[in-house]
Amino acid sequence: MTETKPTYYITTPIYYPSGKLHIGNSYTTIACDALARYKRATGYDVFFLTGTDEHGLKIEEKAEQLGTDPKSYVDEMAAGIKKLWKTLEISNDKFIRTTDDYHEKAVQKMFQQLQDQGDIYLGEYEGWYSVDDEEYFTETQLAEVYRDDNGKVIGGKAPSGHEVQLVKEESYFFKMGKYADWLLDYYKQHPEFIQPANRMNEMINNFIKPGLEDLAVSRTTFNWGIPVKSNPKHVIYVWLDALTNYITALGYDTDDDSLFKKFWPANVQMVGKEIVRFHTIYWPIMLHALGLPLPKTVFGHNWLLMKDGKMSKSKGNVIYPETLVNRYGLDSVRYYLVRAMPYGNDGTFTPEDFVDRLNYDLANDLGNLLNRTVAMINKYEGGVIPAYEAGVTEFDASLEATAETTMANYHKLMDNLHLSDALAEIWKLIARTNKYIDETEPWILAKNDDDDSKHQLGAVMAHLAASLRVIAYFLSPVMTHAPKQILSQLGLTFDDDINLKELTMASLPKNSKVVEKGTPIFPRRDAKEEVAFIAAQMTKSDKKKGRAAMEAAKQAANSGVWNPENTELKSAKKQVRFDAFEKIELKVAEIIDVQKVQGADKLLQFRLDAGDADDRQILSGIAEYYPEPKDLMGKKVIIVANLKPRKMRGQVSQGMLLSSEDSEGKVQLVTVPESIKNGSTVE
Ligand code: MSP
Repeated sequence: MTETKPTYYITTPIYYPSGKLHIGNSYTTIACDALARYKRATGYDVFFLTGTDEHGLKIEEKAEQLGTDPKSYVDEMAAGIKKLWKTLEISNDKFIRTTDDYHEKAVQKMFQQLQDQGDIYLGEYEGWYSVDDEEYFTETQLAEVYRDDNGKVIGGKAPSGHEVQLVKEESYFFKMGKYADWLLDYYKQHPEFIQPANRMNEMINNFIKPGLEDLAVSRTTFNWGIPVKSNPKHVIYVWLDALTNYITALGYDTDDDSLFKKFWPANVQMVGKEIVRFHTIYWPIMLHALGLPLPKTVFGHNWLLMKDGKMSKSKGNVIYPETLVNRYGLDSVRYYLVRAMPYGNDGTFTPEDFVDRLNYDLANDLGNLLNRTVAMINKYEGGVIPAYEAGVTEFDASLEATAETTMANYHKLMDNLHLSDALAEIWKLIARTNKYIDETEPWILAKNDDDDSKHQLGAVMAHLAASLRVIAYFLSPVMTHAPKQILSQLGLTFDDDINLKELTMASLPKNSKVVEKGTPIFPRRDAKEEVAFIAAQMTKSDKKKGRAAMEAAKQAANSGVWNPENTELKSAKKQVRFDAFEKIELKVAEIIDVQKVQGADKLLQFRLDAGDADDRQILSGIAEYYPEPKDLMGKKVIIVANLKPRKMRGQVSQGMLLSSEDSEGKVQLVTVPESIKNGSTVE
């Protein structure tokens, strides 16, 4: 009979694909990955979910700015995120996209059910909305307000610093208030529901006690979302759409709901601190209203900050994980990120700290321990690790005691989500093992010829190898390569079937032959040079990249294959068949009017004569390159004439203008001589 394993379901938040993910976002996924790997290695049947949160105004606007449609945009961005997780060797079992068909259907069904049972009702909403945060704020919640001469508030900034605008709209609401007492009681009965524990008081005092307002769960002001089936002018507002991914991914309420039955409720839902509120107030209420059990723990980790505060493109202090992985290897980056985020506090990334961790923790403490051990086993034992024997000397007994304590603490810390502390615990054993070499002085034991000394020397070598083996296994949830390399230098192979909870020093395999010369797994770096390298990556202007990306996206709207990873058109590499090219109709058109679009800094609205009966309107995101757009009047340009009309900012755009970049990187419209008649085809 096969034993059934206990299950463990862990989730990351689903990421907005509105920009490239940086080391801050990557932290959440790496931390979850470490936990997923740890649980698998301690006998659990794990399901690890991550994905992308693809709807909402921000995405719609981003796509519009880039001159592409939201779906093509999110397709490419989601592909980029999947690629990043591959690079970071994330072991997720599923990647959900909120544009996945099964998710959209399930969300519509849930919405309908909640409406039928009276939890969702139609009302009207007025509030200050921040597009960037995808969130409404009341006037008192705004960090800054702008007033007119009469003192009336006419605008302001959200706590995040993003601009807000007053929005009034018909909206469906979720009756959150109705469940406030139930939620408070649930918190009381389940103190482990919110971790770290102090966040629970924050939720109670800041959000629930002051009065839980009903939550707007639909919008009519944009289109890019899941339509409410019974009233499709409404799209379901992102939080209901987003939060429910955790159950739709498991096939909730479908014919194949075996995963849902097996894994729900989740064991750990890890989120950053700014979205704890959504996950510990709205999400539990939604689940409760649906009659479903709540996740066991929502864990809110802190932020990884930079010296000058939060990471942001506009500050120019963003670091992308690929940059660090390419130069320092994956394990260094995974180790650094997990180590740098303390439990319940923000961590700070600095180039100095990063390089110090590489040099001190990895190259010195761990790397040297391995190098010395391998060298000594070669020198004193002919390369063969002697059989492990406990407590030959008091030093051995002391090292064994430290290893026992480390192992027990490590498990407790991992199980309680103290990931950084669990790594620190391994480093205690590393430090203790290094000290053990100094205490036992193997080079002196080796000089003595008596049996006692030989016996002791053998015990020291076996203890060093046994300790390194424990260290390697315990590192394996965080590092995906070094543990195998460490074991391989000791002549051992990494055994995936070993349960980390059953690992002991004494289970060191017998008579293993170490490598003759170990190569350093973590080379020492020149601190000055590397700090300068990382700092340069942070200050490198994103501007050029941004422009190139925009250009590529704009062109790609033709082919629908924009690749934001390298801002290169995939089609530039791939040849297209002549009949595919032939389908595109290029025409000469004269600009008869052009103006800026109110509220959209980047857009110009063109009226063109393309030789048709009616004028044509085209919107193009090139305003920044034409500060005096009227100068363009009368110019003859080339348009893609048979592009399906699209709505941008509530206006129809009937085609696309061809442009190119000049030597300074400025986008310029491609023009043709005046003598060519309007409407002539370009072949
Ligand atoms: N789409 C929402 C989540 C919906 S979940 C149903 C979202 N996406 S996000 O892309 O903005 O953020 C994803 C995660 O990245 C969040 O947990 C956030 O806290 C985390 N981080 C973003 N910047 C971070 C740091 N600088 N440091 C640590 N984590 C950070 O929110």
